[in-house]
Order: sequence, then C-alpha cells, then structure tokens
Amino acid sequence: MQRIKIGVYDSGVGGLTVLKHLIKKIPNGIDFFYFADTARVPYGSKPPFLVRSFITEIFGFFRFLNIDAIVTACNTTDSLLLESEKRGLWVPFFSIIDPVIWHMENVVSSGSSVAIIGTETTVRRSVYLRKLIGNKNISRISQKACPLFVPLVEEGLNDSELARRIVSYYLEELKKFSPDFLILGCTHYSYLKTIISEYMGDRTTLIDPANYVSEQVIGWLENIEPREKSSVQFFVTGSAEDFKRKASKLMGFDIDLDVNHVDLEK
Ligand code: SIN
Repeated sequence: MQRIKIGVYDSGVGGLTVLKHLIKKIPNGIDFFYFADTARVPYGSKPPFLVRSFITEIFGFFRFLNIDAIVTACNTTDSLLLESEKRGLWVPFFSIIDPVIWHMENVVSSGSSVAIIGTETTVRRSVYLRKLIGNKNISRISQKACPLFVPLVEEGLNDSELARRIVSYYLEELKKFSPDFLILGCTHYSYLKTIISEYMGDRTTLIDPANYVSEQVIGWLENIEPREKSSVQFFVTGSAEDFKRKASKLMGFDIDLDVNHVDLEK
C-alpha cells in the first residue's frame, strides 16, 4: 500500500505543536514533511504581499515533494489565504483556524466572552473575530496582537522572566476584559501557555488550536489502513543544526532529527 505524505508548515518552531499532535494521534502509516521558514521568521509582522510570495514558494516545494495533503500550522498564512485559494489547491488543505471555530460552537454558552491573541497580520485580518461574531452565545469579543511573542519563542526564551514581563505588557487590557476563553491564535504561543495561563488566572480557559486540526486530518484518513510507523523529515530555510537543537528541546524528543536545509529562493 502506498504511504500518505502530509506536508505541515510554519514560519518556525511554533508549528511543532501541531506536528506533535499529528504524530501522537496518527503514529502509523504517514510520512510527515515539516517545513519551517526559519530564515524568514516571523511572518506576522511582514507585509502580506511578501508572506503570500513565501506561501507560493512553500506550496511549490510541497508539490515537488509530491505530498498528498497540506496542514497549515501557521495562523498568519491561514488568515491571508482566501477560501477559494485553499479549495483551488491540487491537494486538500487543512486550516488551523476553522477547527477552532467549530470547537468554540461546542464550548461557549449564553453570555460567553472570548478573546483572541495573534500576530499583527492575524489580528488585522480578523478571521477568528469575523467567524466567531456569528455565534449568538458570544456576548463579548476582543483581540490583541502580540508581535514579540514569536521572537521570544524562537529565541528559546519561553520560560524566562523576560517572557513574563512581555506577557503582562501585552495582556494587561485583556486581563481586565477577563474573557471566559482566550484563543492562542498563533502556534508559537502554545509554548507560552503556562505563563499566559498564570497571568490570566483560572477564570480564563486557553484554547490551543494545535489540539483540533489533527481531528480533521484523522477524519480525512478514515479509510486508510496504516501499517508501518509514521516518519518525519524536516526542511528549514535557516540553519539545520540550530533547528535540530531547538526542535529536539521543544518536542521533547531524544532522537536525532532528520533536518535538511533548503533554499526556496534559488
Ligand atoms: C509568525 O511567523 O509571525 C507566526 C506565524 C503564525 O502566525 O503562526
């Protein structure tokens, strides 16, 4: 039986949270290809036209690898792509935003309040906000861009005093808003979960999108009978050694990761 190839991409290490879920939930039968554009991270503060050109290059690379499905582990690019562009791809595209919207329909109750944090582009595009506004149970909604969170995580400073100060700097207003749910609208933010949760307090439930996209992929795979163990290959535009060190630490894997450097601009 032919193995299924799934391409997962992000600007950097944030999407590893999505990959980790995918490997845990689909341990057999899949060849995962994780692409991280580490030479050009962060995406969320760059002009949309530029990020859109990065997306075209990444999808071109996935096409070259002959992958069977794309999972976006990057909220910024998901919010930039139009529905028609996602549907027009040569393979199925799994959004990171949509499964969160569906999950929220099950968890909010009358009078619930929701806040979203994300990159500048994700917040400006307001995809979460626009999709959630249709939910009649949500009475208050707010969003906030936190541009320094991605560099903090990329630098491995997610559990530092500096991270605590930056979290309180960005989230002060949202703490007053005191939402029932706070959506972490950027995969990098998963690594700040402990600090964010301590700061926001028990009243606020954090929603981590990395948890929900894997269910959609499993649904798509339902007729497949995987036999052999899933594999992962990593492709990065920056230093392979640097990524290997960071990824091993963040994923908690004590194995030698297969990391390859690629130059998309060539
Ligand atoms: C970034 O590179 O700015 C973060 C990407 C994301 O939105 O997940």
